[in-house]
Amino acid sequence: MELNWDFLNKLTEDFGDSYYLLDSNKFIKNYDEFLAEFQKIYPNTVIAYSYKTNYLPQLCSIVNEKGGYAEVVSKMEYDLAIKIGVSPSNIIVNGPLKTKEHLEHFLLNGSTVNVDSCRELELCKEIAKSNPDKILSVGLRCNFEINSTVSRFGFDVRDEEFIEKFKELKKIDNLIIKGIHCHFPDRNLESYSKRVDILISILDLLFKGDIPEFVDIGGGYFGKIDDFLAKQFNCNVPSYSDYADIIASRFKEYFKNLPENKKPKLILEPGTALVADTMKFIAKVIEIKNIQGKNIAMTTGSKFNMGLFGLNINLPINVYSEFKNEEYIKDIDISGYTCIEADYLFKNYSGVLNIGDYIAFDNIGSYSFVFKPPFICPNVPIIDYNDGNFKVVKRRETFEDIFKTYMFK
Ligand SMILES: Cc1ncc(COP(=O)(O)O)c(C=O)c1O
Repeated sequence: MELNWDFLNKLTEDFGDSYYLLDSNKFIKNYDEFLAEFQKIYPNTVIAYSYKTNYLPQLCSIVNEKGGYAEVVSKMEYDLAIKIGVSPSNIIVNGPLKTKEHLEHFLLNGSTVNVDSCRELELCKEIAKSNPDKILSVGLRCNFEINSTVSRFGFDVRDEEFIEKFKELKKIDNLIIKGIHCHFPDRNLESYSKRVDILISILDLLFKGDIPEFVDIGGGYFGKIDDFLAKQFNCNVPSYSDYADIIASRFKEYFKNLPENKKPKLILEPGTALVADTMKFIAKVIEIKNIQGKNIAMTTGSKFNMGLFGLNINLPINVYSEFKNEEYIKDIDISGYTCIEADYLFKNYSGVLNIGDYIAFDNIGSYSFVFKPPFICPNVPIIDYNDGNFKVVKRRETFEDIFKTYMFK
């Protein structure tokens, strides 16, 4: 995506002074590459795209058209998948809060639910009992030690009760335990290596040669990032093929004696890896101040537009100016428009910067607009810009959008 000041200014005239730019072709490329790296080694691999990371219907539809699954964690996300046209059997439901009513809806519709707790297991048993003519599909979210932080999701696989529960479930004819699942937020390779080893030991322990339909290793992979961003993480940033080498190769080896059509599906739940580098956030510089010796540039954007990712690190930026030979400024903090003191989009930028410039923040596609509260201002539009054409894929939010749920009397 080649940008310049004139183009960004034209978009500002049409759509307002801050907006997201999406490159949906890049998303397609990422999806294809990520899947290909795994399928080269383990052909029966499927992507279940993590809706929570970025549920832009445009992107979720691309995944569906490519035969990918939807990974959802709420009724809202489930309804979105259905609205997009995803077959219920291609929806995987995760997450720690599933009401009985919702569980019934997901299971009777034919989706797979990865059960997170004993409470959910009991509810699934009740639903199976009241619907003997229906076959229900479940997976078990497994919790094990991966680092010093204790994850709060799933079943502790070291707990005796876990095996007992598994045996109980196996006895229910119309409730099929189709697979095992895990997800952890760590993005480094060592963590994936551990996950694979432990999932394999769980397969040995629970299934004893009776192969399940899927093994779901979750999401959490790094996307493609440049050196500037990579240096801000305390680890080497693996490539798609590094992940595939660790994960797919181990499963290939473990299932080597099975014919190809009997091998379980390897399910991956990437969000960030596919979508982070497909969006930019554009904001305009409105004011430059010097306060007690500190340079501060205020923009039309906010850190709330950048989501979780932008909170602790400086995302890569590019500045687009109308005029050449602008002034070089050292150590300037780029701030947001809100009244929160800590609303900074970038700290200690050194470079050319002037009032009227546009700043493009990169790697903004994951956990960004989905996290934007209607705090002070409604959210900005999302524009898909590809091959010289642009299309609005989410319009600017209005006063009416925000206040239609409130009672005024
Ligand atoms: C169960 C599950 N799968 C997949 C993901 C996607 O993670 P990421 O966007 O880091 O790939 C998440 C994120 O929280 C998750 O909880």
